[in-house]
Amino acid sequence: MQTQWWHDAVIYQIYPRSFADSNGDGIGDLAGITARLDDLVELGIDALWVSPFFRSPQRDAGYDVADYCDVDPIFGTLADADALIEGAHDRGIRVIVDLVPNHSSSDHPWFQEALIAAPGSAARARYIFRDGRGEDGALPPNNWQSIFGGPMWTRVIEADGQPGQWYLHIFDSSQPDFDWTNPEVRSLFLDVLRFWLDRGVDGFRVDVAHGLIKEPGLPDVIEPDTISLGAGTATLEPEISAPSSVPYWGQDEVHEIYREWRELLDGYPGNRILVAEAWVDPLSRLADWVRPDEMHQAFNFAYLETPWAARPLAEIIDSSLATFTSVGAPSTWVLSNHDVVRHATRLALSFDNPQGHGIGPATPNLPDQSAALRRARAATALMLALPGSAYLYQGEELGLPEAIHLPDHARQDPTWFRTNGERYGRDGCRVPLPWSMGSRTYGFSPGDNSWLPQPDHWGTFARDEQRNDTDSTLTLYRRLLSLRKELQLGTGRLQWLDYPRDDVLVFRNGRAVVVVNTGREPIRLPESEVLVASSAFEDWMLRGDSTVWLRA
Ligand code: NOJ
Ligand code: CA
Repeated sequence: MQTQWWHDAVIYQIYPRSFADSNGDGIGDLAGITARLDDLVELGIDALWVSPFFRSPQRDAGYDVADYCDVDPIFGTLADADALIEGAHDRGIRVIVDLVPNHSSSDHPWFQEALIAAPGSAARARYIFRDGRGEDGALPPNNWQSIFGGPMWTRVIEADGQPGQWYLHIFDSSQPDFDWTNPEVRSLFLDVLRFWLDRGVDGFRVDVAHGLIKEPGLPDVIEPDTISLGAGTATLEPEISAPSSVPYWGQDEVHEIYREWRELLDGYPGNRILVAEAWVDPLSRLADWVRPDEMHQAFNFAYLETPWAARPLAEIIDSSLATFTSVGAPSTWVLSNHDVVRHATRLALSFDNPQGHGIGPATPNLPDQSAALRRARAATALMLALPGSAYLYQGEELGLPEAIHLPDHARQDPTWFRTNGERYGRDGCRVPLPWSMGSRTYGFSPGDNSWLPQPDHWGTFARDEQRNDTDSTLTLYRRLLSLRKELQLGTGRLQWLDYPRDDVLVFRNGRAVVVVNTGREPIRLPESEVLVASSAFEDWMLRGDSTVWLRA
């Protein structure tokens, strides 16, 4: 099989609100990204995935789209999007945009039309409107609970001024779910795909790719328990983890939609790709999303959720490679994104923290940050040695921790509001990046503010501070990425080597031997050429929570 660019690409996620602000309003924008492309070339990534920048009232930070074919004024214009795509391409970097097909914003003209239309009308049939249960339909149509907290249904006021039907929203009430059995919805999204493909994007990250189809009849969810995946890891709840009993996740009919999209993409030159954000469980089911005529890649959240421990890591690596290889797809690897606690904090948590719950000032037993960073650097050095394609989240190359002490009044995640502050949500991983020590916003904005406040110690992580520091996390990432390319680890083959300790992993990938110490006790290394090490070591002793690549 010929190697395609996406088989081994390192793809860097940009969360545009928080990357770089060009005009001083405190919110990152497209021109800010374009101006910083050379920093990404220096880092050594292959592609960008840019989180949504489309027209949106921003009630879920842009994952609530009011116009899929326009840029929101806070991020710039279509011309700015063109300039970003062109600037990236000129530098050999591909650009993947975020497609949000499960739901629109409640500001979308179709939903506005549906609200004033009558029950049973064609306008309502583009979304999921139903009559309520109980007397006068005063109860929601079923027991489904929103991922952001509270019921998954909101009741509307009809033209006669009386409470009427309910509409479904897996997420916030400002994010009504489309009815994907409706051909008008299918055709809208084929047009959206064409619009961005014609503008030159290299692919789409597909939001909630497991949620588009709901089980007919919308039956109640049975047994909403929590599945714990063990200490020190985020946990999935059944609502998120998609066991087949959950009637809104992972329904077989979603695959037809992706086959149709794949056909459309294949008609374009240049190997454009589809990437599934699909929280499906078990991992083996994820293979269905990346069969040869469906998507190209799927995020490996099972890997992200694996605790920092040698045996579980070896198991998930083996099962990921087996799962994806079984359908001819590359495995992917990811440790952080805009929805989870940053791995420079998360991997050292000693308690379960379900995805999306977040941590904050009142969370007990927070880990020591410098120890946590050492572990995160080791975890990244392991991930970037694996064959397949890897995703990085902006700021992890700076070793950014989760911002834990955000004041309540600054929080913006709908999760925080829908749970009345019971869950902190995801703001802590979305704080704007520090670029330089100098200014009030650490170089993020030419103005004085950032949309989420940056912690006081943010300047110590600034890119310009780290650039020439040989021990910095930025220098480590650059070294890992350049060696990964030089040694072609992304297209390599992993071979485990024996080591007589349960908390140590040793494997060979091509010309590199990788040693990962997830334990506390140091280990003695064979004296050989060190290619890169995640923490300093002396006398051939590798400390705990460290990874080293040796020349094979
Ligand atoms: C997944 C996205 O990553 C998340 O940020 C968003 O809130 C939900 N989907 C809803 O679109
Ligand atoms: Ca701005």
